Amino acid sequence: MASFPVSSSLTICMLFLVIGSTSAQLSTNFYYHSCPNLFSTVKSTVQSAISKEARMGASLLRLFFHDCFVNGCDGSVLLDDTSSFTGEKRAAPNFNSARGFEVVDNIKSAVERACPGVVSCADVLAIAARDSVEILGGPRWDVKLGRRDARTASQAAANNSIPPPTTNLNALISRFSAVGLSSKDLVALSGSHTIGLARCTNFRARIYNETNNLDSSLARTRQSNCPSVSGSGDNNLAPLDLQTPTNFDNNYFKNLVNRRGLLHSDQQLFNGGSTDSAVRAYSNNPGSFASDFAAAMIKMGDIKPLTGSKGEIRKNCRRVN
Ligand code: HEM
Ligand SMILES: *[C@@H]1O[C@H](CO)[C@@H](O)[C@H](O)[C@H]1NC(C)=O
Ligand SMILES: *[C@@H]1O[C@H](CO)[C@@H](O)[C@H](O)[C@H]1NC(C)=O
Repeated sequence: MASFPVSSSLTICMLFLVIGSTSAQLSTNFYYHSCPNLFSTVKSTVQSAISKEARMGASLLRLFFHDCFVNGCDGSVLLDDTSSFTGEKRAAPNFNSARGFEVVDNIKSAVERACPGVVSCADVLAIAARDSVEILGGPRWDVKLGRRDARTASQAAANNSIPPPTTNLNALISRFSAVGLSSKDLVALSGSHTIGLARCTNFRARIYNETNNLDSSLARTRQSNCPSVSGSGDNNLAPLDLQTPTNFDNNYFKNLVNRRGLLHSDQQLFNGGSTDSAVRAYSNNPGSFASDFAAAMIKMGDIKPLTGSKGEIRKNCRRVN
């Protein structure tokens, strides 16, 4: 029966074709010939920004998340408003909050000097996020590249796709599931809150009202710089990880186990539900957090990229060509 092996190898070929067309055509060596100094160019600019202000590493990491969750990792978060569309910068999760755009401009300028018109802003963001984590002491991964830049942005999509900090566990799980990320990815990626700061407006309700699952001494400390009345001190900052806000470590998970998550959404991950075990595991094992975080970042970076002839390679990350 010669036809059996022939048709089964055909089936396997077609299987690969199907898999190849549904998964992103991103690769770690995408700019190997077209921009050989890309990685060193990005890293030195990220390094100097973090040397000036350690928080910038957190801000760059968050920008990549806010890019990927809104119509895929396509650089849309970087676009300024125009007369024809309202961009994402003034959407609820970003307004008065997303930062690092000037650093992205500096990276992009350096990259344009090295290889004009070759590297997308979406990829610049992916590399900057990776470098930020590594510079602050976290894991390093081989970042996949080949994304192209969107020619539009959507404030509505940004409002609807990025979960607010009031979100409960089930809704967090379904937001992540909507972009192909598992609840394990949710827990690992939330470990990003081991670095960076949050504004009073985003944790006020928790520190005054969530006495059931918030350490009382942390509540008091945070209340001292976040008045209970809405509208006063809204932008006052506090570290998401009270212990080491500029080190990418597993203290975020140790905090959660001790009822010291700053955001409602943080503590949801350890509140008697299905993600408790993953939080506890990461709190005990920094190595498994590091490797799961790296894998989840690669998965997040695979969300709906523009490839091939879709989109464009923006010259200036703030506007379409
Ligand atoms: C699970 C759902 C998530 C929610 C509800 C959430 C919410 C928030 C909020 C409210 C802030 C503070 C913003 C402010 O007060 O201005 C914040 C900060 C931050 N988030 Fe998330 N986040 C989530 C997931 C993630 C993910 C997946 C990442 C990265 C992969 C991330 C990275 C960060 C970082 C690094 C900061 C600090 C930024 C800075 O200091 O500039 N977050 N997040
Ligand atoms: C998005 O949210 C912001 C801030 O809450 C609001 O001003 C804006 O109207 C919303 N935009 C859309 C298109 O829903
Ligand atoms: C705490 O909850 C009470 C009762 O629901 C509410 O009136 C109050 O505004 C809440 N405080 C904050 C700071 O959210």
